Amino acid sequence: QDDIFKNVISHAKEYGYIFPSSEIYDGLSAVYDYAQNGVELKRNIREYWWKSMVQMHENIVGIDASIFMHPTTWKASGHVDAFNDPLIDNKDSKKRYRADVLIEDYCEKLHQKALKEIEKAQKRFGDSFDEAEFVNTNPRVIGYHTKKKEILERMARGLDSGDLADVKALIEELEIADPESGSKNWTEVRQFNLMFGTKLGASADTAMDLYLRPETAQGIFVNFLNVQKTGRMKIPFGIAQTGKAFRNEIVARQFIFRMREFEQMEMQYFVKPGEEMKWYEYWKETRHKWHLSLGLGAENYRFHDHEKLAHYANAATDIEFNFPFGFKELEGIHSRTDFDLKAHEQHSGKKLQYFDNETNSSFTPYVVETSVGLDRLFLAVFSKSLQEEVLEDGSVRTVLRLPSVLAPTKAAILPLVRKDGLPDIAKDIIEDLKWEFNVAYDDKDAVGRRYRRQDALGTPFCITVDHQTLEDKTVTIRHRDSMKQDRVAISDLKSIINDEISI
Ligand code: GAP
Repeated sequence: QDDIFKNVISHAKEYGYIFPSSEIYDGLSAVYDYAQNGVELKRNIREYWWKSMVQMHENIVGIDASIFMHPTTWKASGHVDAFNDPLIDNKDSKKRYRADVLIEDYCEKLHQKALKEIEKAQKRFGDSFDEAEFVNTNPRVIGYHTKKKEILERMARGLDSGDLADVKALIEELEIADPESGSKNWTEVRQFNLMFGTKLGASADTAMDLYLRPETAQGIFVNFLNVQKTGRMKIPFGIAQTGKAFRNEIVARQFIFRMREFEQMEMQYFVKPGEEMKWYEYWKETRHKWHLSLGLGAENYRFHDHEKLAHYANAATDIEFNFPFGFKELEGIHSRTDFDLKAHEQHSGKKLQYFDNETNSSFTPYVVETSVGLDRLFLAVFSKSLQEEVLEDGSVRTVLRLPSVLAPTKAAILPLVRKDGLPDIAKDIIEDLKWEFNVAYDDKDAVGRRYRRQDALGTPFCITVDHQTLEDKTVTIRHRDSMKQDRVAISDLKSIINDEISI
């Protein structure tokens, strides 16, 4: 798994997808730059999300709120008081960890042990195996599940009540060791706020303390009534937004999975109180289907319903994805109640209520939110698409099987040789296609090597101009995934590419 992940990171760099930030100065931890191909893939993912969420829903509109917001926003949202990570240091290795992550990793191991038992039994009993019955009656599986539940509940109690000494005691009782050094010599647990602070204004005495937003959602809540009134929106309706968010992640690792500067794609759906569970289920299903539409394989997704809920939620689930380092959160779907609108109402003194024309009364809507990290989605798509294939002749082909709709370049146009007028025809084809599709020109190396390079870049089509083109205005079109080549008329290229990239 480690090798696969390393390969993903080096491929992303070698093929112009992602570079470490300010690399000439040895980089900046957990900050990355999207390179020439990465920016296109990221843009295509964002656009696919936007089209599905905004363009396809008559009752969802978009906004683009500022990163800076009035500081009271973060007091009202609870981020000033509650957006903390419980940190713990190992006294021997001097490494810093999130105490909750150490405990959750321990619980994941218990979960894996239970899964192993289930798998073993499945093999033993074959077709007659009843998984639900086994899970409910097997003492070992029950033991693992009960222990996991007890640990998570105790951790949640400690974190919620501020009893951090008990969280440390839990780590000691479970004999959790530093994953790197194996040492069990821990410091106390302490809370660390994840928001980045900055200042607005020049002079020291008038400057105002600001935060870089840690989520895009609050820009939607504070604009809720502006959008509702000017857009004449009727409940239920949604407001969507994509944009940067910032968190001072202490345990930042795993490439673009956990970054300090990242991008979110969020949608807040405003509903009648009492109808939130219906919409929560609706968005769970809708977002799950959206992920499946990318074709990365249904087995790579699972739901993880939260037992421990954030201060604003009455139900929450993660859509987890099977990243190269295992199943981890990709998207969160939260039923946020009326927590945010009520809190902003209280702190601003302005009414944030919806007036229902039919009943002639006002109420504070409930909110169901869908929140996905664009960078995480990028990592999911990129890592699952990167494959090595052994061909019939025994050679290995590296191919980035990106969903065609997301591929940075849809087609590479390759003149077979750099003479006889073939480059001119290739350039004419580019002129004809480039408004609609991102296309590339390549005339270096033998054509076979050019194919392999485009495979590794994830380009769905290679279009080769050869001597026959001079006679009959046809070209060969090679499909990245099957490597099959067809002879087609130049005039058909647009519709062929269009068919492939429609989802
Ligand atoms: N408004 C709700 C909210 O922000 P969250 O679970 O904290 O909820 C939502 O974040 C999504 O944002 C996550 O599922 C993840 O995809 C992404 N995300 C959060 N922190 C991130 C980080 N440090 N780096 C990259 N993506 C992150």
